[in-house]
This record gives sequence, C-alpha cells and structure tokens, in this order.
Amino acid sequence: MAGEDDKDKVAAQAKAAGPKKIDRRDVLKGLSTVPALGLFGYAWYKQHQYQQATAQAAAGPAVAPGDLQEINVALLGAGAQGQVLTDAMLRIPGLRFRAVCDIWTEYNQKRVVNSMRKFKHEVNAYEDYREMLDKEKELDAVVIATPDFWHSQHAVDCLKAAKHVYCEKEMSNTLEGARAMVAAARESGKLLQIGHQRRSNPRYLHCYQKLLGEAKLLGRIVTVSGQWNRAVTPDLGAPDRYAIPEARLKQYGFKDMHQFRNWRWYKGLGGGPIVDLGSHQIDIYTWFLGVNPSHVMASGGQLYYDPKTHEWYDTAMVVFDYDTPAGPVKAYYQTQTTNGSLGYFENFMGDQGTLLISESEVHAAKVYRDTNAPAWDTWVQKGYVTAPKIQEVKEKDESAAVMDVRESVSPDEHKVPIVLRDPYHQPHLQNFFDAVRGKAKLNCPAEIGYESAVSVLKVNEAIEAKSRLSFTPEDFHI
Ligand SMILES: NC(=O)c1ccc[n+]([C@@H]2O[C@H](COP(=O)([O-])OP(=O)(O)OC[C@H]3O[C@@H](n4cnc5c(N)ncnc54)[C@H](O)[C@@H]3O)[C@@H](O)[C@H]2O)c1
Repeated sequence: MAGEDDKDKVAAQAKAAGPKKIDRRDVLKGLSTVPALGLFGYAWYKQHQYQQATAQAAAGPAVAPGDLQEINVALLGAGAQGQVLTDAMLRIPGLRFRAVCDIWTEYNQKRVVNSMRKFKHEVNAYEDYREMLDKEKELDAVVIATPDFWHSQHAVDCLKAAKHVYCEKEMSNTLEGARAMVAAARESGKLLQIGHQRRSNPRYLHCYQKLLGEAKLLGRIVTVSGQWNRAVTPDLGAPDRYAIPEARLKQYGFKDMHQFRNWRWYKGLGGGPIVDLGSHQIDIYTWFLGVNPSHVMASGGQLYYDPKTHEWYDTAMVVFDYDTPAGPVKAYYQTQTTNGSLGYFENFMGDQGTLLISESEVHAAKVYRDTNAPAWDTWVQKGYVTAPKIQEVKEKDESAAVMDVRESVSPDEHKVPIVLRDPYHQPHLQNFFDAVRGKAKLNCPAEIGYESAVSVLKVNEAIEAKSRLSFTPEDFHI
C-alpha cells in the first residue's frame, strides 16, 4: 500500500494524473477524508511531480558511461509500485527498457509505456508475461511488481527463462510459493532480489554497520517497537471506461474490478496491512537483531472496515520473541487503521541507548544516549552521529507540578547524519543491477526474503489462532 507506501503511491498516482485541475467535486469529496490543508498540499504535490516529470522527459535516458554493460529490462506489473520502480530505474545509468507487461491494458500498461517512451525507451507492451518471455529473447532482467499472489509464478517462470529477477515484497502470499522461488533461483543460477528496499538504504546500512556493529551504541538491546498506522482511506476504484472485461479479470484470478483494485485486502491474493506494511519493518527487526524470532503472539481484527470487502485484519498488534546471543528480546509491532499520526518507524532500546529509525524523513534516524552510558565523543568525532542537542533548561514555572527528584533525566538526542536524496527504491535497484553486472552481492537474496516471509505470514496465523505460536530453526531453513 502506498499505503505502504502511501507516499510512493501518491507520487505514482500524481505523476499519472499529470497537472489535473482539482474541481469543486474533488474538493468536497476530499474534505470528507482529509484535512483541507492536506488536500491543497496534495494538489501542489501533483503539480510538482508533473513539472519534474516533464523536465526529466526532455532529458532522455540516463546515459551509461562507455564501459558500462547495458542491461535489457522488462517491467512485469505496471501499477502504482511499478510506476515508482520505473521512476527510480530511469535514474540509473545503463538500463535499456525493452518491454512492459500488464493485464490492465486499458490504463496502467498504457501509462507506463508512455512514460518510458517519453524517456526514449522503445518498449513493447504485453498482456501475457509468457508471450513476453517468448518474444523478448534479449532480456537480461525482469522487475516484478504484480500483486503478491502472482509473484511466485511470475518469478519462477522468469528465472526458468534465464532472466535475473527483482521481485517486490511480500515475496509470496504463501510459503509454498516462496519456497518455489528460492528453488528456481538456485536451479537457474540467476539472481533473485526481494524488494525489501531498506536493506540497501544508506541510513539503515550506516545504523546497522556503524552504530550497532562497530560502536555498539545501544549496549544490550532488550526491546524493540515499531508501527505503521494508516488513516482510513476509501477503496480504490477505476472509471467505467477503463474497466477490464470480466473474462480477462477471471483469467487472471480476480472476481471483479473492486477485488482487482483492492487485492491486498482479500484472502488468497494479499495479506492485509501486516503483510503490506509490517513486512518491511519486521524484516528490519530480524536484520538488526541478527536472529529470526522464536515465538509470535498477536491480536487483531476487522475493527474498522466492512469484512465483506476487507477480508484481512485492518488492525494488528504483535509481539515477537527473539533469543539473541546477548539475551532475550521482546519486539512489539502495530499497524492500525485509524489515522496516520506519528507515521512509521522502528525503535530499538538497549541499556545504553535507543535508536529511532525510519525510511521516512519525518523521523529519519536519531539515537539517544542514556546518561549512564560511556561518552560518545569518539563517534561524534568520527561523524557517525551528530553532537547532542543541548537539553533546554526550563525557567521555573510556579504553576507546574514540582518535579520529583527521582524522575529520570531524558537521554541526549543525537542525529544520524545520513540522508538519502534519491528515491527510496533506487539504492536497492542499483544493488540488483550491480549484482547483475557481477559488481555486488545482493542485499536481499531469495533466502533472506524467505526468512522474512516466514516471520510475517505467521502473524496472520497467530491472530486467527488467538494463541502464541512457535517457530523452529527449521522453519527458516531452506
Ligand atoms: N517495496 C515497497 O515499498 C512497495 C510499495 C508498494 C507496493 N509494493 C508491492 O508491489 C506489488 C504491486 O503493488 P501495487 O501497489 O503496484 O499494486 P497495483 O494493484 O497498483 O498494481 C498491480 C499491477 O499488476 C497488474 N497485474 C495483476 N495481475 C497481473 C498479471 N497476472 N500479469 C501482469 N500484470 C498483472 C495489474 O494490472 C496492476 O497494474 C505488490 O507486491 C506490493 O506488495 C511494494
């Protein structure tokens, strides 16, 4: 979801929509779901995106330096995320788009084909990916951004056709499907990168390698928490004139246009918000803690939406247990459908400090040094964290309650000075294409994507079972 990625979807949709004027009907419709300021901010954003796209289109494809081997790429799934990935790939030198495949030939397919052509990529358009694989013999890589329940079949067939594959998360909506993908990558000898893009984000890499690995700023991590709460949003729709004929919808596993547009909420197609949003962040818990979870318990349900159109839980509150070499860790995660306040982040708490990190610039990353921890001067001098923000000493306020002498002094806040100026997905795609050229190792190969899927898919099971479920080490082994 732009959801996951609300920002991403907004960007993709904004770009697709171009400089559309917002009329009164839009305003009234918008006012019922978003604050007025947000709506006008959104209008500005749309306009800005359009201007950027127009300026970039005039520039033509990102030019590859002479010695860079050109990679022939196809996009399979040209929806909101397909557009976001395309925008990021258009900034990466040395890629040549050859084909776009999407079953929504009336809308998404046309939109992405047109945007690639604006950048002087002469792509062929397909509805059926098998026809694309048959005809586009020179393809080196396929980037997959179809709904989760198609990932396994699409990735397996592309790998079997000797293409390298970048496949969006969640790797698959079933573990069986994810296992088939790992097997196909191994058998084909081709690369399979799963789209957990934070694994290539310089901010996350810096925190993992320098702050936790080298400087060990947090001391012993005891608890983790994280969230991604979303505002209530209307279902996605489509104008009648762009509707996909029923026979084609059925052929590709959708019962109607509503399900086609809102597949995330349907059992057998997606996994609801915990899979859509939580998968990114639960993946970070495991990565930073260095072990897979041992247990999970969760509570959730359809607290807000109509279960007829939202089969998956709109609210999930989850606790994972991890047995790390340093000791046990409890990790809480929540995704709720209410409003989007406080955004999304992960928070790691140790006995010497706390790391608050997010993909979003709203939180970016901050570390808090407990007053009992050794000084961090070395790490400030090395530039790993900024000097602490000096805490404000408040004037004595006669009307305020008298501070208890036993109250903890809040830890110093240090910022993590790493800013990603590229689109969020660009470093992960760059890592994939570097690996295709033999110049890097994948940051999220199939095995890691699989481990992540094991942890995440179990949450929905735990909600349903209403009990604490265990993982065995074998569950993660493939
Ligand atoms: N990494 C991230 O931050 C991130 C963000 C958003 C979405 N995603 C993932 O990207 C994927 C796509 O999500 P989305 O938001 O773009 O969904 P979407 O519904 O907007 O787009 C899916 C597209 O796939 C097409 N499609 C469906 N079945 C197909 C088939 N069999 N063959 C060819 N095309 C087919 C649809 O026509 C549609 O254009 C999902 O797996 C989602 O989890 C990842």
